[in-house]
Order: sequence, then structure tokens, then C-alpha cells
Amino acid sequence: MTVKRRYKVLGTIAAVLLVAFLALVLTLGHNSACPSRYTGPVGERQMSAVIYQCYGGPDVLQLQRTAKPTPTEGRVLVSVYAAGVNPLDWHFLRGEPTVMRLSSGIGRPTDERLGVDFAGIVEAVGKDVTQVQVGDRVFGGAGGAFGEFVSAHVTSLARIPGNVSFAQAAAVPVAAVTALQALRDKGELQPGQKVLINGASGGVGTYAVQIAKAMGADVTGVCSTRNVELVRSLGADHVIDYTREDFTKGSQRYDLIIDNVGNHSLLDTRKALVPRGIAVTVGASSDGRLLGPLTKMLAAQILSPFVDQQFRPILADINAADLTTLADLMAAGKLRAVIDRTYELAQTAAAIRYVESGRARGKVVIQLQPSEAALPTAAQP
Ligand SMILES: NC(=O)c1ccc[n+]([C@@H]2O[C@H](COP(=O)([O-])OP(=O)(O)OC[C@H]3O[C@@H](n4cnc5c(N)ncnc54)[C@H](OP(=O)(O)O)[C@@H]3O)[C@@H](O)[C@H]2O)c1
Repeated sequence: MTVKRRYKVLGTIAAVLLVAFLALVLTLGHNSACPSRYTGPVGERQMSAVIYQCYGGPDVLQLQRTAKPTPTEGRVLVSVYAAGVNPLDWHFLRGEPTVMRLSSGIGRPTDERLGVDFAGIVEAVGKDVTQVQVGDRVFGGAGGAFGEFVSAHVTSLARIPGNVSFAQAAAVPVAAVTALQALRDKGELQPGQKVLINGASGGVGTYAVQIAKAMGADVTGVCSTRNVELVRSLGADHVIDYTREDFTKGSQRYDLIIDNVGNHSLLDTRKALVPRGIAVTVGASSDGRLLGPLTKMLAAQILSPFVDQQFRPILADINAADLTTLADLMAAGKLRAVIDRTYELAQTAAAIRYVESGRARGKVVIQLQPSEAALPTAAQP
């Protein structure tokens, strides 16, 4: 093949790939119209749940009568007493970054149920479930937590300690598991090390401060003026008010940075790390519809091999072992949920809108059943 012909073939392949990529971007970005009526399954066994039949903002959410799930093999049916709200929920609701629609559904969501974090009581168990029994108080992560019942896999739940309320437990799964895995697994945090938590007053941050303290670290929390006292009350040794000071421009160096915000470039973040330090990217700006926060996570992977410091993205994995570790910390009074606001199931849209504002202090919880007045509150750390 002549050189000219080879260039022609390569050019054609590149053009085809470009067209295919553009077609994929357009397809992923397409939003199907919202059906005017509920078209999902109802059946004889019904329950109330928050559903979304199309991608969009909180206004597309509806409280509907829908089919009550049946627990299949390895799963349990949980009567939901409280559900926690995470930024993850509005990512699912909007279908953004759009690349996630490859699994959540192109054009419209394949699963109309929303919500992940739940706490409640086991109502029925599926085949081969021996870990928990009917009547157990459990918490964990499962698709469709914003409803009266959820079907959850036993590998993604754990028992709630006796001194912890459903609302407190529901505030834990995604945010606290992320904090634990970022500090322990990705961050390899050791006692005595200096760790900085950027975004210390949010869902992940309020847990990260407490877990890092429980691991024996010297903890610096970064938050705005109004949250300085909150972050200090969680045990932070030092607090940086980001409205007055930029931690990447100071002289202090950290062994580990947990970044829940992603408002500094990776190169600026690097300046605040010791020579062999680690930065874990938990959250980042949602700009860019196709990849959103994943852009920074990819950049972290790409930069890491070229510098002494390690830049590690994290995608948290909710599992029974880590939920049990967190339950033990709560039972011992070393970990508590900071609950900013509580909403009813019918107010789920307002709850998600508030979390999407990025201003929540700690966690936001949907309370489906009245809180347990008789329970002692979890001990304060
Ligand atoms: N990778 C994963 O597996 C994973 C898991 C969970 C969450 N995430 C992501 O991690 C991020 C944090 O999650 P989250 O649940 O903690 O969110 P969140 O609760 O919504 O965070 C809100 C908090 O962020 C603070 N904040 C906003 N701008 C800040 C800044 N420039 N510097 C410091 N703090 C700032 C706010 O305080 P002020 O109002 O005072 O500024 C508020 O307290 C999100 O992007 C989420 O999508 C990722």
C-alpha cells in the first residue's frame, strides 16, 4: 500500500470514529419526554414511592403508588423508616454526567426508583439469606430507597446498633463508606499522619473528620466561616476557613488530602502534599455534561505516574463489612451523623434541591416513619 493510500485509509477510520463518537454524545445527551401519566408497574401489592420517568430536575419527581418489591435470592425486603440523600441522587435524576446513562438508561431511566441510602426493619427475606432475620433493624445501600419498601442485597447492609436511630443510620451509607474507604484504602492513612479534608462540612467531610480522628491522625478541615465551629466540634485539630485562606498557598504540607470539592487544580493540590503524599479525589465540579466530575478523576489517574505524589480517584463500594465497621464506631460513640435537615417522603424533591445547592451541612434525611422517641441518642464523640 502506498503512503498516500495508507493516509487515506487512516483518515477514513478517524472520520468514522469521530462521527461515531459525536453520535454517541448526541444519543447520550437526548432526553425523552416525560409521560403525562404513570406507566410503571403497580400490581396488587402496592406501596408509595418517589419515581422519575424521565431525566430532569427535582420537578420531574412524583410520589406514586407502585409495585412493592419481592425479595429474590440473597435479598431482603426492608420497610424503610428513613432514607439519606446524596449528590449521587441528583446525578441519577438528571442522568448526568451523561456517560452514566450507558448503565442507567439512554433517553430515560431504566429504573424509575430513586435513592440509595436506607435504614429500616427487615420485613421478609429471600432464599439463602441467613445473615439477618425478619424484624432486624438494618441500614445500607440499594436502588430505590425513596419509598416505603426497598429490596436490598445482604452484602450491602448491616445491623443498626441499639443506640442509633433510623435517621442517624440512614445518613451513613454512601457518605461514610466513601470517607472510610478514601482514608483507609486509597489514602493508606497511618496514626500520627497529617490529613487535610477539603469540604469538611458536607456529607462525606463530616464523617471523614471523625474517622480520621478515630484513626489517630492530625486532622485539618477546610470549610467556610459559618461551618468552622461545626468542623471543630467533630474533632478537627485545625480548621481552615476557605473564604480567608487557600490551603494550597500555605506553608503546611500534608501526608494525605481528601478532596471532596475539587476546586483546586491537581498541580496546586500537589503543592500542599509532602513529597510522597497522597491526594484522593472524591468529588469534583460537575461542569461538562458528558463526563462531569469524572474528568478530574481521569486527570488524577493520568498525572499520578509522572509525579512523586500519588493522585487517586475513588468510587466508593457499599459493602456489609465496612457498614459494620461504621456501625461499631457509632456504637462506641466515635462517629455520629450530622443531620442538617429532615424532610417527609412527599418533600423528596425539596430535599434533593437542597443537596444540589451544595450548601448542606452534613446530611439530609427523608423520614418515612416517626423517629424513635424512646431511643437514647448516639453518644457524641
Ligand atoms: N467518588 C465517590 O465514590 C463519591 C461518593 C460520595 C460523594 N461523592 C462526591 O463528593 C462530593 C462531596 O459529597 P458530599 O456528600 O460531601 O456533598 P455535600 O454534602 O453536598 O457537600 C456540601 C458541603 O460542601 C461544602 N463546600 C462547598 N464548596 C466548598 C469549598 N469551596 N471548599 C470547602 N467546602 C465547600 C459546603 O460548605 P459551604 O456551604 O460552607 O461552602 C457544604 O457543607 C460530591 O461531588 C459528591 O458527588 C463522590
